[in-house]
Amino acid sequence: MSAEWTLCIDFGTAYSKAAAAPSDAWRRFDPGQVRPLMLGGEAATGNAFLLESAVFVDDDRILLGPAAVARAAENPASKRDALRSFKTLLSVSDLDRALNTGLPLSIDPHRKFSMGDLILLYLGYLTASIDRAVASDPMLSAVTHFERRYAAPAWRSGDSAGLHGIVTRLFGQAETLRDALGDVLLSPPGVLLGDARKALDRAYASKHLADMGLIYEATAAGAYSSIGLDVDAPALLIVDMGAGTTDIAVLARAGARVEELGEARVTIKQAGDYIDRVLANLILARNRRVKTAAAQGVLWREAIASMRDFKESLFAEGRAGLRHEGRLTMISMKDLERAKDFRVFRETLENAYQHGVDVARNYAGLHGRREVQTVAVGGGAAAPFVQALIRQKPRRSAGKVVIVPRPPTPAWVHAEEFRGNLAPVFPQLAIAIGGALAPEDMLANVFSPVSDDRNGSLAVPD
Ligand SMILES: Nc1ncnc2c1ncn2[C@@H]1O[C@H](COP(=O)(O)OP(=O)(O)OP(=O)(O)O)[C@@H](O)[C@H]1O
Ligand SMILES: [Mg+2]
Repeated sequence: MSAEWTLCIDFGTAYSKAAAAPSDAWRRFDPGQVRPLMLGGEAATGNAFLLESAVFVDDDRILLGPAAVARAAENPASKRDALRSFKTLLSVSDLDRALNTGLPLSIDPHRKFSMGDLILLYLGYLTASIDRAVASDPMLSAVTHFERRYAAPAWRSGDSAGLHGIVTRLFGQAETLRDALGDVLLSPPGVLLGDARKALDRAYASKHLADMGLIYEATAAGAYSSIGLDVDAPALLIVDMGAGTTDIAVLARAGARVEELGEARVTIKQAGDYIDRVLANLILARNRRVKTAAAQGVLWREAIASMRDFKESLFAEGRAGLRHEGRLTMISMKDLERAKDFRVFRETLENAYQHGVDVARNYAGLHGRREVQTVAVGGGAAAPFVQALIRQKPRRSAGKVVIVPRPPTPAWVHAEEFRGNLAPVFPQLAIAIGGALAPEDMLANVFSPVSDDRNGSLAVPD
């Protein structure tokens, strides 16, 4: 039986997101039926559509999502960290081995958990959060069966079939774990360590594989902006700057068919997290009076903890400040642009963009056209240098190509149904929404490996 609704999970480095749409939405698009899920629940303190990807191992409990982030921020002097950015693990060639590795004492002082244990607890929490959001959505609560998908980057090391097997096993185990723990998984005080261990053991014993399709993040990001598209250009270039990676991809359109041009795809292992570190280093460099390693550690943690808001001011107003021990440190966009690490990132990004435009222009040329549409998604879409990038003409082919930048939020996002809540976070939700809207033939064929021609050459080594 084919499902009437499709649900896509975007397990992000910084935030997880999910959205649902009717399974025939591609052919019969109706913005009122696009359902981004409120994973944070009704009582969410941050944006209800974004669920922090974080786990904190406390003295006697495990805290998940926003509770983990809040607990870690409580005491910057404690040398205790939440586990974050664990999605980047999906990029390692031996994922099973990575899941079995131990954790630093700053994350698990009890030495009781592996990396994989905490990821599984998080996925159980994410699964439970999705179920809660579905149950409280007036349009979805009656739906009994969803076709499920998850979005993932198309990694160049690319044993995507092997990776897909591991991910569906993890999501299958996460469902068992959620059933074992029940509501406690969603309770802010978290899960007792012993209960977590017991539930993990039950989950590992389960052979259940989740039934999920895979859609590449870039394809999903492109799908959302192809739908209801008013300008009909043959090629769309997407820049997705998230927390863990920046991905460039080109989608080509021939009639109703949309496909990704694999030779344009580049994944850069620098994105929001990397900019956070560049900015935290600038802040440290401006605070020479903070001398001891311990005091610098505290300042670093404070800076990293407030980086999301710091960057928002920096990108919107051109400058931002951090107050530490009564002293204010101001950083401007110029300071960031002068930092060597940032310049290296920007050059890599520009090269990848140029290459993408070349591929897109060639495709457009074959169809007798000159326009290449560009769009930025992900949290980094707010960055002025990303907005400048997607307006940039490539040096070599100036004149032959017309760059048509698209706004980060398509017109339908402002539809009355969303009461203005969707537009501010839409660039971050684009992948989950696009993944839910995309027709089945846009899913990754997980039985054939990802092509490796070009997409690794610009990636920066670990
Ligand atoms: N308004 C904003 N201004 C500046 N930065 C922002 C803004 N909103 C989000 N960010 C940054 O964007 C990043 C998160 O974006 P996003 O949710 O797209 O990432 P992700 O999907 O979790 O990561 P990835 O795709 O790499 O796995 C973080 O680095 C966050 O600080
Ligand atoms: Mg992302």
